[in-house]
Amino acid sequence: MEASNLRILLTGASSGIGWHLARQLARKNNRILAVSRNIANIPACPGVIFPFSADFSQPSEILRTFRYLKENWGGIDLCIANAGFAYREIFDQIPLDKPEAWEHIQKIYNLNTLGQIYAVRLFCDPVLNPNPEGREKMFVSTLSAVAMIPLPYYALYCSTKSGLDGFWKTYRYEKAPWLRLMRVYPVATRTKFFQRASQEENPPLPLLTQPAESVAKSILRGIRHGRSKVYPSKIFALAYPLMRAFPCLSQLYSFNEKQKMQRHFKKTMKR
Ligand SMILES: NC(=O)c1ccc[n+]([C@@H]2O[C@H](COP(=O)([O-])OP(=O)(O)OC[C@H]3O[C@@H](n4cnc5c(N)ncnc54)[C@H](OP(=O)(O)O)[C@@H]3O)[C@@H](O)[C@H]2O)c1
Repeated sequence: MEASNLRILLTGASSGIGWHLARQLARKNNRILAVSRNIANIPACPGVIFPFSADFSQPSEILRTFRYLKENWGGIDLCIANAGFAYREIFDQIPLDKPEAWEHIQKIYNLNTLGQIYAVRLFCDPVLNPNPEGREKMFVSTLSAVAMIPLPYYALYCSTKSGLDGFWKTYRYEKAPWLRLMRVYPVATRTKFFQRASQEENPPLPLLTQPAESVAKSILRGIRHGRSKVYPSKIFALAYPLMRAFPCLSQLYSFNEKQKMQRHFKKTMKR
């Protein structure tokens, strides 16, 4: 699919990967509804990027966005479901004597998993997003390498992405023929993501990192070439088949990340 002259819904557009995607898509004569809760930091490009405040962890807000798109643009051609967040935490220390614990777990699933699943349902709805001629449309899902390789102390986050991955792997056999699905598996990306997850200024990052701009470029290349899967890190793309063939490599990686985090916890507790 040529990523030009399209009506696009992009979520998570105020920061990181989504921010770079908005800027790169804006150069291609597209119209982009750029969604996040706080819209002040969405790149400015009048008549091309349309900042839109919505909480994509709430079904009513997702529905409101699709209704707005139907009423104002007649629908969309491309949806990039990118908004997401993580918790870095010791899972066993989430206090279970408070109702907030359940809400804490629900909150991350609502955005990372359910939000995307609900959005694709609306994207394929003939009333909300009409497609009488059956033209090709595309839905892009930002997942993560952690859908496949466990990252200790991010158990809830990893599970939201693996759960979503399982949905896509099955849904692709059921979907309408005009719908193209693309799954994206970035490795650790240098955005505010890890600061937000840990609420620390300089949290330790996993072993392999890459810049958000290059992740956005890989996503655009994937859209152009109609890929079903995109691995923005070439190193991960090469290492992953090896890790599948020799699971001890993946275990070694996760064990190493666990030890790194434990050293970090010890150091920060001493302060
Ligand atoms: N950074 C990484 O290492 C990494 C690696 C693999 C995959 N990913 C995935 O890539 C995606 C983007 O990550 P990033 O690194 O660009 O993160 P980021 O810089 O923290 O940006 C997250 C974006 O999501 C938006 N958002 C958060 N909660 C939202 C909600 N309830 N409704 C609507 N928008 C919401 C944020 O805006 P507001 O707060 O204003 O709403 C922001 O625009 C996520 O799905 C993440 O899981 C990230």
